[in-house]
Amino acid sequence: MIKKIVLNLIFLSPLVYMLYGLQSAVDPIKYIYIHTGSTAIVMLILTLCITPLRKVKNLVKYRRFVGLYTFFYAFLHFINFFVLDAELSVAFVIKQTLDKPFVYLGMISFVVLLFMSITSTRKLFKKYRTWHNGVYLVLGIITIHASMAQKVLSAVEYFYIFMAVILIGHRAFKSKWISRFFANFLQKRVKTA
Ligand code: HEM
Repeated sequence: MIKKIVLNLIFLSPLVYMLYGLQSAVDPIKYIYIHTGSTAIVMLILTLCITPLRKVKNLVKYRRFVGLYTFFYAFLHFINFFVLDAELSVAFVIKQTLDKPFVYLGMISFVVLLFMSITSTRKLFKKYRTWHNGVYLVLGIITIHASMAQKVLSAVEYFYIFMAVILIGHRAFKSKWISRFFANFLQKRVKTA
């Protein structure tokens, strides 16, 4: 119980930190975008690190918890867009989504994260297990989204790109489909040599 409270406090600390700095923010909407977006992508990376690192430290039982916090911060990011930026105008949301490629990449990721959060219960997860691989797609898309939001890429975006390449690459090599493809490819090369 105490462990759960401490964990929740840790995962809520970026929100507290953001609220604390909000009063002195020059552009509050941009400030909220940056904080909620960065926290969501870092939590997404943390969620996806749990599986490859499970032999070093098994934290698989916390994967859903961290995943749900990823969605929580992505939801705050979306609320910033819809309530503060769009001022609840559905027409504005549709226009921005259709006009700006980086906004529709964000939207696609948000919808996939929403679907995964809803289907993360034990019962629904069994049914939609394979669909949850879509989280790697979200990581790829959101890395592009975060990079497109910048005029010049900084070390932070290079870090996201690096982690996305490592995590997606690792998943691809673990996938049966990819390993079968490479096995067949190598077999053909050996035969023709
Ligand atoms: C709901 C759909 C989404 C919309 C409409 C949206 C919108 C935006 C906008 C307008 C910015 C630019 C902020 C600025 O610098 O002026 C931004 C940046 C960003 N977004 Fe999103 N986004 C969405 C989904 C997501 C999701 C799901 C994630 C993460 C899981 C995310 C992560 C980021 C990151 C990391 C940045 C860059 C922040 C920075 O400048 O450091 N976004 N987003």
